[in-house]
Amino acid sequence: MTDVYQCIQDRFSARGPFDPGRPVSKQDLERILGAGSWAPTAHNMQNFEFVVVDDAKLLAALGELKNSISMDFIKENYRQLSFSEEELKRKKVGILADRFPSAWTDPGATLEELRATERTLPTSPDMLFMLYDPSRRAPASEGDFLGIISLGNVTQNMWLMASTLGIGFHIVSSFGDGVVEKEVKRILSIPDSLKIVYAIRLGYPLSDSGYLRVRREVDDFAHHNHYGKKGLNET
Ligand SMILES: Cc1cc2nc3c(=O)[nH]c(=O)nc-3n(C[C@H](O)[C@H](O)[C@H](O)COP(=O)(O)O)c2cc1C
Repeated sequence: MTDVYQCIQDRFSARGPFDPGRPVSKQDLERILGAGSWAPTAHNMQNFEFVVVDDAKLLAALGELKNSISMDFIKENYRQLSFSEEELKRKKVGILADRFPSAWTDPGATLEELRATERTLPTSPDMLFMLYDPSRRAPASEGDFLGIISLGNVTQNMWLMASTLGIGFHIVSSFGDGVVEKEVKRILSIPDSLKIVYAIRLGYPLSDSGYLRVRREVDDFAHHNHYGKKGLNET
């Protein structure tokens, strides 16, 4: 029997570069997208579309887009950061600050300092752009809360499938942000009515992209019968 728990734990964000000479096969792309289609979605809406990009010219155009960092991002990012592995191990949530340019980890950074750190967004030989139609919400779901959760389920199925196939998977949210989203829509002929959820980089990592990954203990977030009685053994 496949150890599902092991498969779930082995999945990770492959943020490093992928082998430019080793694209993902069509068969594997179909497997990954097919796994997404079998995800549970509210009302079985299947409220997603994907643009699969492997054309070199389009990838080059996408690779020229630069992220734009907002002050809001900097402030909110700061609250999630740890500045050492020890701190991250202790907190068990969030990410390490060394992933970002130092100005992004400084709530006192000025706009000029942030502008100086603008950099092009990462691409890969195969990229998936996940789209949805915000005007078609799950029934009676304020803000399409249920529809958006469904997109997460789709992503997770695809991620687990890719991981099982030995294919690196990396979400890049910035492709769905403001000005960048507009540019992506232009490059990929995506109608204005659709929202880009995010881009997913797929490929074969060039190096072991292992890094410190932390999670909370079950007893830290599971409350037994009454909120506040933390831990499954609490009575
Ligand atoms: C909705 C969503 C958006 C994310 N956006 C990004 C992103 O823009 N860039 C990135 O490097 N990782 C992104 N991630 C990956 C998370 O940072 C990552 O899943 C988390 O830190 C746990 O690490 P792991 O995936 O290696 O277990 C995103 C994940 C999710 C679920």
